[in-house]
Amino acid sequence: MTIDRAYLDKFINVTSKAAISSSFLVGKKDKIAADKAAVDSMRSELNKISMIGQVVIGEGKLDQAPMLYTGEILGNKDGPEFDIAVDPLEGTNFAANNLPGAMSVIAIAEKGNLFKAPETYMNKIATSKVEKGLIDLDYTIKKNISNLADFKNTNPSKLTACLLDRPRHKEIINELNQLKVNLMLIKDGDVSGALLVSKPEYNVDIFLGIGGGPEGVLAASALDTYGCNFQGRFIFDNDDDIKEAKKIGIDDLEKKYELNEIIRGDSIFCATAITDCMPIGIQPKELSKSINKLRGVKKINDQIFITETLITHKSSGHNNIVKNEIIIDQVDK
Ligand code: FBP
Repeated sequence: MTIDRAYLDKFINVTSKAAISSSFLVGKKDKIAADKAAVDSMRSELNKISMIGQVVIGEGKLDQAPMLYTGEILGNKDGPEFDIAVDPLEGTNFAANNLPGAMSVIAIAEKGNLFKAPETYMNKIATSKVEKGLIDLDYTIKKNISNLADFKNTNPSKLTACLLDRPRHKEIINELNQLKVNLMLIKDGDVSGALLVSKPEYNVDIFLGIGGGPEGVLAASALDTYGCNFQGRFIFDNDDDIKEAKKIGIDDLEKKYELNEIIRGDSIFCATAITDCMPIGIQPKELSKSINKLRGVKKINDQIFITETLITHKSSGHNNIVKNEIIIDQVDK
């Protein structure tokens, strides 16, 4: 089974409208309001689609999030059954402070094929396609880097690693520095960070480190279409998270998930830029100027907006940036 191509435009419309709604709050220093605007719009647009879509990664449990909660059924209840992972506003700080890198993200798979990730951190590693066993979350940094350098017929000083700039990564950063690997440290937005391994022109050889688990699943959904390599391990470091994990059927808390255990079958991934992204969420100065930007929402007038969306569709191998003119009704605003 595959997901009909007709759904590509429908989901581009969903993230585009969410991005536009959130764009009204860009720079207003209120990340909760910017997030809420994206959530409300995304939910309302998803409900217009012919499908029975279940949120497997959402804004939280029903008691924490009345909209897009995990388990919520969306769509007009007529059509194929999908699993849906949403991050209506990825990069809340970017949006609140009018910085590059904010986007609205969704991933869709056929029912039962998208991993129901707990809302914990995840230790992640991603590279472009490499032979099995070459890169592994359980290897040392040194072994992964040396294997990758050998595979690419280069040396570590020619490799670039992308990771979130966080104190928890101090040791990894030290090790990478000792190995003379170039670093791209990102302030936020590790969906984009992971996606930078998808194309050679982004000049990132390996993405690694600890970030959000849901963001890991979203990134894996797109990386699957690019044929990339991804592994993730959730981190359960308190009783509440452990209890939640057991409740959703995760018995092995140490399990390392391979890409094909996170997402299977056909999928669609859409990321619409709210603020400029380059090309998928990273702050422009960190990448070569020659790479096309994924431009943030552009207002033409009160009704018409231009959005740019990175879209991937596994079964058709489709992956590109599309530009759309979106007309907003009063009701949509
Ligand atoms: P938000 O958009 O929810 O603010 O998340 C941004 C983000 O940078 C994610 O991309 C990343 O997975 C996570 O936060 C990392 O969490 P932390 O800021 O706690 O290190």
